[in-house]
Amino acid sequence: MKKKWWHKKIAYQIYPKSFKDSNGDGIGDIRGIIEKLDYLQELGIDLLWLSPIYSSPLADQGYDISDYYNIDPRFGTLDDLQELIEEGKKRNIGIVMDLVVNHCSDEHEWFKKAIADPDGPYGKFFYIENYKKGDKLPCNWRSYFGGSCWDFLPGHDDKIYLHVFHKKQPDLNWENPLLRKEIYHMINWWLDKGIAGFRIDAIINIKKKLPFQDYPADRSDGLTCIDNMLKEATGIGEFLNEMADECFRKYDAFTVGEVFNEKDDELPLFIGEHGYFSTMFDFSTTFIDETPVSTVEPVADLAEKYKKAAFASHKRVEGIGLLSNIIENHDEPRGVSRYIKPEDLSDKSKKMLAGIYFMMPGIPFIYQGQEIGMENLSEVKSLAELDDCANPHVYEKALEDGLSEEEALKLLSLKSRDNARTPFQWSDKQYAGFSQSKPWLMVNPKYKDINLAAQIGDPHSVFTFYKQLIALRKHTDYLNTFVYGDFVPYHEEQKNLLSFKRTGDRTILIAANYQKEPQMLQLDSTIKSILLSNRDEIVYDDNTIYLDGYDFVVAELEA
Ligand code: GLC
Ligand code: CA
Repeated sequence: MKKKWWHKKIAYQIYPKSFKDSNGDGIGDIRGIIEKLDYLQELGIDLLWLSPIYSSPLADQGYDISDYYNIDPRFGTLDDLQELIEEGKKRNIGIVMDLVVNHCSDEHEWFKKAIADPDGPYGKFFYIENYKKGDKLPCNWRSYFGGSCWDFLPGHDDKIYLHVFHKKQPDLNWENPLLRKEIYHMINWWLDKGIAGFRIDAIINIKKKLPFQDYPADRSDGLTCIDNMLKEATGIGEFLNEMADECFRKYDAFTVGEVFNEKDDELPLFIGEHGYFSTMFDFSTTFIDETPVSTVEPVADLAEKYKKAAFASHKRVEGIGLLSNIIENHDEPRGVSRYIKPEDLSDKSKKMLAGIYFMMPGIPFIYQGQEIGMENLSEVKSLAELDDCANPHVYEKALEDGLSEEEALKLLSLKSRDNARTPFQWSDKQYAGFSQSKPWLMVNPKYKDINLAAQIGDPHSVFTFYKQLIALRKHTDYLNTFVYGDFVPYHEEQKNLLSFKRTGDRTILIAANYQKEPQMLQLDSTIKSILLSNRDEIVYDDNTIYLDGYDFVVAELEA
């Protein structure tokens, strides 16, 4: 693999609205991020991805952009952002902006102009169709947030527009070269400001299978999941390659794609040496608890499913490129609550999960609060307590699938995106030290026990373990092996054991006992030294490691 500057990096995702409020309005902001840069440097972060902070009505929390060239006043100003970029540079932290270009906001001036003159040039920036009430819609795709992806164009009872997400997020028409030119201009404007690159939102959706057509309905609403269309859409590469040429490649920028539904033979095109992106997220483990019918039942065989998904994913890209590894993000529940059985959740098992995903090949991303082991909300009392625009759909589908109202709320406490969006728990003070006033979204009541202040000086805390993981990965003796070494699953068939080697300059064994019962791991070479573990002393001899429940160990082996 040709070496690139981002291969060695550790990235951190900030959800700005919930990270740190600097001015007491209950909303996190850029100045709050600047305040915490030293903290992030201490942790060992090199790249900082900010979820969107552009001007926005916040219908989908900033993923609905009304002005790509400005910062929403709730988050600060362009000057604040420039200061963040400069202060980041002083600490070798590169800023990664969110690039949301499948859609914009219905309050963007392009859409307003399209409404004023649907047949004019801006009408062609969107997908607008003639329609008379009672007619069949152009297609039966279900929007990601539920309901049809078509709505009337405001002020027109004979025209409709396409939105695959929220109705306040009209899809941009990438088939139109003028639209693409505007997008590339905007991207380069940002790159000129000195940012390190972009996280690229929902990008697979920019290529539609045209002309619009129905697919078989998959629920009683008569609609179809958009995946059915995406499977048939071809030709996205032309857009992505053009964008890379016009923008990213010129700046040697770092890009990480939010890519779902890519086809196997497209992988080298996406993340190979001359790929459209530097890397893309590995979402494989986020599918292991997905069920067609809503349920609050725990997943059977969680550890085995996790292992299969993660191993297969890294095998799939071997020799092609690097994935970006996550256990959670702003769209997912908290990883520790999801991938560890509730009865086994402890600092120790949290550290094990951290260790596993961190030592896989790829670029580790930490989502804010993950480094202190933040958990899901345990209880949701009503829909009104939450915020996310996706919740009503999850809730209604649960009822439709036969869950009681109580179970539907329970489902939200397990699945809602708000689990990840509650304010960062800085301390056990009021509002978890996030703000001087009531935050925009409830603080997770667990903040009294789980907060940074309690963990920062504690050698046994989850936070300290993350620092150790980062330091180990960056250690000059091992860096090359962790970044470029081979990935060799080890005793893959042994149940609830997740173990692999990374081999290169050194031979490193990573082993996790993903269950509460002890188990042994046979060795085929002797241990040279233990590099890290989540237990005071790991027990081993020449042939065997004796793992206690949720033990995690990184050891150097004799080659
Ligand atoms: C991505 C974002 C998500 C957003 C959606 C629409 O999946 O991560 O938060 O709702 O795109 O922009
Ligand atoms: Ca604020």
